Amino acid sequence: MNAKDVKRRPEISPARIESEQEAEGAAQALREAIRYHDWRYYVLDSPVISDAEYDELMENLRALEEKFPELQTPDSPTQQVGGEPREELGSVRHPVPMLSLRAVYEEEGVRHFDDICRKELGREEVEYVAEPKYDGVAIELIYEDGRLSVASTRGDGETGEDVTPNIKTLKEVPLVLMESEEENIPSRLVVRGEVYMRKDEFNEFNRRRAQDGEEQFANPRNAAAGSLRQLDPNITAGRPLHIFLYAVVESSSREFNAHKEILETLPKWGLKVNSDQLKVCSGTEEAIDFHRELAEIRDDLPYEIDGVVCKVNSLSDQEELGYRQRDPRWALAYKFQPRQKTTVVENIVVQVGRTGKLTPIAILEPVHISGVEVSRASLHNQSEVDRKDIRVGDRVLVERAGDVIPYVVKSIKEERDGTEKVFHLPGRCPVCGAETVTSEDRKMTRCTNMSCPAQLCERIMHFASRGGMYIEGLGEKRVGQLFEAGLVERIHSLYHLTKDDLTSLERYADKSAENLLGEIEESKEQTLARFLYALGIPLVGEHLARVLAQHYGTLDDLMGASNEVLQEIQEIGPEVAHSITTFFNDGRNRGEIEEMRKVGLRLSNPLYSTKEEERPLESLTFVFTGSLDRWTREEVKRMVEKLGGRAVSSVSRETDYMVAGPGAGSKLERAEELDIPVLSEEEFTELLERRG
Ligand code: IVH
Repeated sequence: MNAKDVKRRPEISPARIESEQEAEGAAQALREAIRYHDWRYYVLDSPVISDAEYDELMENLRALEEKFPELQTPDSPTQQVGGEPREELGSVRHPVPMLSLRAVYEEEGVRHFDDICRKELGREEVEYVAEPKYDGVAIELIYEDGRLSVASTRGDGETGEDVTPNIKTLKEVPLVLMESEEENIPSRLVVRGEVYMRKDEFNEFNRRRAQDGEEQFANPRNAAAGSLRQLDPNITAGRPLHIFLYAVVESSSREFNAHKEILETLPKWGLKVNSDQLKVCSGTEEAIDFHRELAEIRDDLPYEIDGVVCKVNSLSDQEELGYRQRDPRWALAYKFQPRQKTTVVENIVVQVGRTGKLTPIAILEPVHISGVEVSRASLHNQSEVDRKDIRVGDRVLVERAGDVIPYVVKSIKEERDGTEKVFHLPGRCPVCGAETVTSEDRKMTRCTNMSCPAQLCERIMHFASRGGMYIEGLGEKRVGQLFEAGLVERIHSLYHLTKDDLTSLERYADKSAENLLGEIEESKEQTLARFLYALGIPLVGEHLARVLAQHYGTLDDLMGASNEVLQEIQEIGPEVAHSITTFFNDGRNRGEIEEMRKVGLRLSNPLYSTKEEERPLESLTFVFTGSLDRWTREEVKRMVEKLGGRAVSSVSRETDYMVAGPGAGSKLERAEELDIPVLSEEEFTELLERRG
């Protein structure tokens, strides 16, 4: 660790500190670090450590102050919330302080919380409401005589920023409360919730910013915070912001008994509550289950969440449990394992893909992010490297976004010591030495040599892959060997290989040569969909290849289709259409296909059906879970797609049917919660028969 590391992330274990003098120094270091990070998070909307790292600093300080109570000072971060408000916005004093939540990351922490609640309340079992912990911006709305009078951010917890004009631009925030037969409007109502940006809208918003050369936001939370804290509400109005409300802190003339009751009442006044994801739990085990279920569907939810909030349901119990300085005793945040960590860029290497594109790859000091070791991350292109200013030796914030792709969020420039090295993609291809060309916007750098081995090897491997021609014997090593021996110069060279060719290579016995030749021979009898995927047309993955095969009976029909005609297919936009026509207009690609036909490529197309009635599952989405008797997953998926439907792996409200076999688990529960019709395998077969 360098000097800055020590300052911003002091490594202190309270359990090991014995002397008061040492404790004092440690507490001071922690407080300074926490204040710095509060400022980065709340004032600049630009944190430089992950939430989990922050939580750890806070937890250490708390533990230290507990062990040495005389060290506690009224201005310690454990006694307050958040950061300084942005002055230009004007300030609002919260009628009741806006507190924070204590965070745990392990089941044990939740059980411990439950133990304390039960003990304090003297009860065997306590009822909780579990709800998502939204990763957005906390907001307070004050309605007077049914009209929105003030909206404010959390600020330092006591005083927030006045964002009333900005909040008024959100369509989901009613300016006037609704009166219903059952519910009168209280003369004064103070509610709290979270303003957020949806993930898809965030991506689109960021994409447009990149296009306009504006700085990108690291995540939807920062984008929402930045949008809300604008001085000009017209800017906020143009941003896609949403709200979920989850608390009432004042409601004249309307008494509530339970948190659940609050959540049921708010919508009657026109205030938005996320009733899809709520669970009343008898005891914390159910809340732990809920956490598990949410973790599973987290990536499929349209908004970001970073855990579950577990709240004691009864309001009188809440009152009895009361508050600590900074957080309530009746609520707990059970967070997901962090997806962001900081690590160091040890090197940046260059990968040449099958289209000849050069991609910079960051080689990272390995870190574990939600159970997966991350040691490399694509930096996409030179423009991205420049924009984020990522240098070799930098400390960076890495996020494992979605399920798999690690993403370098940013470099932490504050921690540089001057030894970091600026990176440029090379002017010559690292594989073949040919010159490279870079587009003006620096988003694309390509090797100019069509027969660059990197391109060819990658293309052959893709051609032979499982989803393509499925020539199992052609892995990376074998392809490299063939190439080095000069046995493959084009893809179709594969079909001219002889047994002598193969046995002349190292580690090829007669048997393995025969096996490989057999597989290559078999691959000539192929379906159109697999062949299209195997060709490696840019932007055409397995799913789109199948969609194309559903709409075009033969390869020639597809090769003759124009941009406009292709776009008549629902899932095909201008970019994909352009990519397909460009691919087939290229003489070299046509020549390659011609050569393969000459050696006996024969394409069948079982997916193609001319008549509407042969697509009986048109636009229906299925999720399969548990085990099936009659089909494999792959078969069932193909069948559904052949009949015009889609088979996806996760349950959402867009799912039309779930088909569940023995051993179905949380997906099934989730489908039941969302009221999605659940079919057995037999019922599914019946459905197919009924639909022709
Ligand atoms: S209740 C006194 N419920 O978490 C407890 N907070 O660390 C008040 N948050 O600033 C909070 N989702 O912005 C509550 N379902 C939820 C929440 C939630 C997100 C945020 C909130 C607060 C922070 C506390």
